Amino acid sequence: MNILVLGSGGREHALAWAIKQNPKCDRLIVAPGNAGIAAIAECAAIDPCDKHAVLELCQQQAIDFVVIGPEAPLAAGVADALRAQGYLTFGPSAQAAQLEASKAFTKAVCDACDAPTAAYARFTQAGPARDYVTAQGAPIVIKADGLAAGKGVIVALTLQEALDGLDEIFAGAFGAAGAEVVIEEFMEGEEASLFILSDGTDIAVIGGAQDHKRVGNGDTGPNTGGMGAYSPAPILNAQVEQKALDEIVRPTIAEMARRGTPFQGVLYAGLMIQNGQPRLVEYNVRFGDPECQALMLRLGAQVLDLLMACAEGRLGDVQPQWADDHAISVVMAAKGYPGSYEKGTVIGGLDMIEENSQQVVFHAGTTAKDGQITATGGRVLNVTARGASLQEAHDRAYAMIEQIDWPEGFWRTDIGWRAL
Ligand code: AMP
Ligand code: GLY
Repeated sequence: MNILVLGSGGREHALAWAIKQNPKCDRLIVAPGNAGIAAIAECAAIDPCDKHAVLELCQQQAIDFVVIGPEAPLAAGVADALRAQGYLTFGPSAQAAQLEASKAFTKAVCDACDAPTAAYARFTQAGPARDYVTAQGAPIVIKADGLAAGKGVIVALTLQEALDGLDEIFAGAFGAAGAEVVIEEFMEGEEASLFILSDGTDIAVIGGAQDHKRVGNGDTGPNTGGMGAYSPAPILNAQVEQKALDEIVRPTIAEMARRGTPFQGVLYAGLMIQNGQPRLVEYNVRFGDPECQALMLRLGAQVLDLLMACAEGRLGDVQPQWADDHAISVVMAAKGYPGSYEKGTVIGGLDMIEENSQQVVFHAGTTAKDGQITATGGRVLNVTARGASLQEAHDRAYAMIEQIDWPEGFWRTDIGWRAL
């Protein structure tokens, strides 16, 4: 088969790495890809949100199966355009991608299917929103409705922070994504993510993970896209997972089907767990990054069969096969991230690192230039390892980092601390 993966991050490198190992994969193309992906697949320099360019590439390269990595092409309807032309595609329709693209939409779905989540109210005007926040008091959570690259959420610990957050959003800090605001009850507990494949009707649990969103050790400093992750997540034990599936995930999948907009793809449920009870924080309609890197290392070649079964509506026939193992992914980022950072710095030592089924360095923001790997993004490398225990995976990952020579980079030294 000829397979196309859309995206250019560490998530897509990990997906490509797993797919490539499956004997069903003859040719693998990633658009647009990065320097690490270029070492295992052909890269095509197109914009993954440009439906016309994606369709043209599929036609030129006789693509049999398309896997869409990031949320932007999904929300832009790239999966719809591909399916309309008969291409087998992994990823939800634009309508179903609303589960990530609109927080208000997700809240309405939760209401309709009684899924446990934070109490909330929606506003399109600053005055009533300010009155509501003042009446509720802090802590309280303010969210821009639309896609804001993970930055549209303000967890306000004081009333002033909440009011400032509202002003910022209504002043246009997130553009159209902030035209509507969702104000939520602050939920206490421990967060974990559950990844579920759905073909619209049946589901298959693909695994759980926990990530570290804050930039600094001890979970301090500003939020980021994620500085590291590990799988499995001890807090997501069998009972909590069963509750999350029964009370949140299955009702959501059924509600989406009932509305005539079935969800096909990977549903990433962000959960807040307190006293064994999970509540939904948010949905994403794609794999987490870097959670995906840890999951792919654990799953390996079977990923292609699972994604295809999902796209073909055959999930009822397949079961992910898990080894009793653990994986961890540590993000190396450019100094300054998530603020401004230097681009084009050179990363050394990568070709000396042994890569195998236990350890891989997935690339995120890298480019190959004059025979050297340079950093071109904020999050740059995802050093990923697995082992019989989380400690073993952890030690393997940090030993790889020792071999990487990148003075302009930094990383957290405590990924996995909660579980270790
Ligand atoms: P989201 O983009 O909705 O996942 O929000 C980003 C982060 O904000 C989450 O991972 C949580 O840590 C936090 N958060 C969001 N909503 C709530 C809530 N209702 N209560 C407490 N924390 C929240
Ligand atoms: N690591 C969090 C996310 O992918 O949204």
